[in-house]
Amino acid sequence: MVDIVFHEQTKTFHLYNEHVSYLFCVLENGQLGQLYCGRRLHDKPDFSYLCERSARAMGAYPAGQDPAFSLEQIRQEYPSGGGTDFRHPAFSIRQENGSRIMDFRYEGFVISEGKPALEGLPATYVEDPKEAKTLTVVLRDAVTGLCLELFYTIFSGYAAIARSARFTNEGEAPVQIESAMSLSLDLPDCDYEWLQLSGAWARERHLYTRPLTPGITAIDSLRGNSSHNENPFMALKRPSTTEDAGEVLGFSFLYSGNFRIQAEVDTFSVTRVTVGIAPEGFSWRLAPHDHFQTPEAVLVYASDGLNGMSQTFHRLFARRLVRGEWRDRPRPILLNNWEATYFDFTEDKLLAIAKRAKDCGIELFVLDDGWFGARRSDHAGLGDWVPNRKILPDGIAGLSEKIDQLGLLFGLWFEPEMVNPDSDFYRAHPDWILQTPQRAPSLGRHQYVLDFSRPEVVDAVFVQMEQLLATSKISYIKWDMNRSITECYSAAYPPAQQGEIYHRYILGVYALYERLHAAFPHVLFESCASGGGRFDAGMLYYAPQAWASDDSDAVERLKIQYGTSLCYPISSIGSHVSAVPNHQVNRVTPLHTRANVAHFGTFGYELDLGRLSPAEIEAVKGQVAFQKRYRALLQFGTFYRLKSPFAGNETAWMVVSADRSTAIVGDYRVLNGANQPFSRLRLRGLDPDACYTVSGGAQLHYGDELMEAGLVTSSALCGEMHGEAGMPRDFDSRLYVLQKKE
Ligand code: DGJ
Repeated sequence: MVDIVFHEQTKTFHLYNEHVSYLFCVLENGQLGQLYCGRRLHDKPDFSYLCERSARAMGAYPAGQDPAFSLEQIRQEYPSGGGTDFRHPAFSIRQENGSRIMDFRYEGFVISEGKPALEGLPATYVEDPKEAKTLTVVLRDAVTGLCLELFYTIFSGYAAIARSARFTNEGEAPVQIESAMSLSLDLPDCDYEWLQLSGAWARERHLYTRPLTPGITAIDSLRGNSSHNENPFMALKRPSTTEDAGEVLGFSFLYSGNFRIQAEVDTFSVTRVTVGIAPEGFSWRLAPHDHFQTPEAVLVYASDGLNGMSQTFHRLFARRLVRGEWRDRPRPILLNNWEATYFDFTEDKLLAIAKRAKDCGIELFVLDDGWFGARRSDHAGLGDWVPNRKILPDGIAGLSEKIDQLGLLFGLWFEPEMVNPDSDFYRAHPDWILQTPQRAPSLGRHQYVLDFSRPEVVDAVFVQMEQLLATSKISYIKWDMNRSITECYSAAYPPAQQGEIYHRYILGVYALYERLHAAFPHVLFESCASGGGRFDAGMLYYAPQAWASDDSDAVERLKIQYGTSLCYPISSIGSHVSAVPNHQVNRVTPLHTRANVAHFGTFGYELDLGRLSPAEIEAVKGQVAFQKRYRALLQFGTFYRLKSPFAGNETAWMVVSADRSTAIVGDYRVLNGANQPFSRLRLRGLDPDACYTVSGGAQLHYGDELMEAGLVTSSALCGEMHGEAGMPRDFDSRLYVLQKKE
């Protein structure tokens, strides 16, 4: 059920489905006032009392209006700045005369079934127009002739609303857009905790929570990608909200470049949330007849806690953001050679690794960095997507054929956006990198960033990639991006347009993905940016999965994967079993724990199986068989976080099948201890009236028992039942498979 109603008399819009209501109205000055965003309400014609106002000291009001009509106090939909509202605006536009005052007034609206695509940008979509309704509100600034369209899509069955904005210059003179948020939402109070995912390379998406206080709380990226440091996701939860109960609003920005997510708590305790492209470094020249479309932001409301919010994001993103042949398919179990060999490989070595992978039941062999041009270290070769015949005598075509004959799919690594100074590509086109006149471009990992704002550059990379894809058996591409953007200036654009380059760059990345996607629809893309530097919802539109982090240590991964699960589906989280001592933190964790963590993701291996003992190989075979048996559930089931790694020594999570007949619980303990307390896990999402067996045991437990009394886990990590024989130990873990008894 989904509907959008317009009440003519009060000029009130009510968007609602079975879960949420979103209400706003046309104010008496023709601008838009926000009324309500939250749990579903009964519809009625008049909610105008929700637009509080009063004449206050120091308030300013527009000429001709009542002194109580001060925009500073009125909750709005897409506020402008410089007038009687002194908070941060949703947009800023400069006219040629230097004025930044804009007054967009309501002109009309259109309600349509379904959801239109966003030109050149990632967006949620519908397959049947009945799945959603879209409201387009049209506003105009009389002085400049600029038209502003605000898009709202509400989906049936999801407590989610997608928003974006489009400016069209229907006037005579160019204007400069200095900021244009995708979403602005004024909430009536500030009794929230702000939750964000932050980190660094190899430490991505750790969870941070802090109370909202008066003033600005914000996260952003100015690195040209969405970044390891901050993720384009934020949630506002009530202080009492837990994983399982209470209100929360989640905000996800479907964009892979610079962003800013901000909450401004004003002096009247109103909270203004804005989500969009970071204004810093951005400016867009809008010539007459041109338009500018913002990326999309998705807002999720939940009254059943953080798990409820995450489950809505997971379902929406897995089904209606990810596209293509791989969307609903359990993902192939892969072996990636990076940590097995780094740059030190020959074709024979690769084939030996692949053969062992096949023997263990692995399905996809991925050749990582180092197969092309003069690339024998990270100092050379990027840009030359031509196989190095000294190490691959039959090229990628020959290698992929040999891998195919082993009965494996073949995948290949690219870093399409980059070039090493020591490459034929750079020598031929030194002017095709991002660089500022008269200043030396900075390096990152010995490489420059190609100017993807230029279609001819994107085209030249596409031609090289197409050639390989068309002539080889490639089923998977890992698309890497290993440095931040600096000196973001393009020789192809005039001075007045240099503020467009960060955004045009990302549009170029999306355009290349789109072309490859269209030409090779069978290819599964995995995005990557030195691990999880571009793990964002924008990327998911093109690449159904993303390498979550270069840190593959099982203990570190508990935090990374737990944090990632706040917004992103388990089917999108690239997670592999790697060698010990771990290459990033030098920790030795048991093989079963490395697998028990990696199972909650797209599962694979990142090691040389030839270095494992026969017993370990048998264990790997068991892990692969387990993943094959349960991967549809692990990747597409309903995921619940049970115990947070940010709160203590133990982590637990679980997935439940849609029919609640099967569930898998992951239980992890970092450090062992002597004489441990008893422990239980109160499970979630089971059928309370059904009986379940636990890991094939003879005892039956009702779902209500397992959810209320809890699953007794004390013995499992105290010696009797843990995954490998022997004494309990540090870094131990256990998976439980719950099966409903018919
Ligand atoms: C960074 C990635 O995150 C790694 O997995 C690997 O592909 C390297 N780049 C290769 O250079």
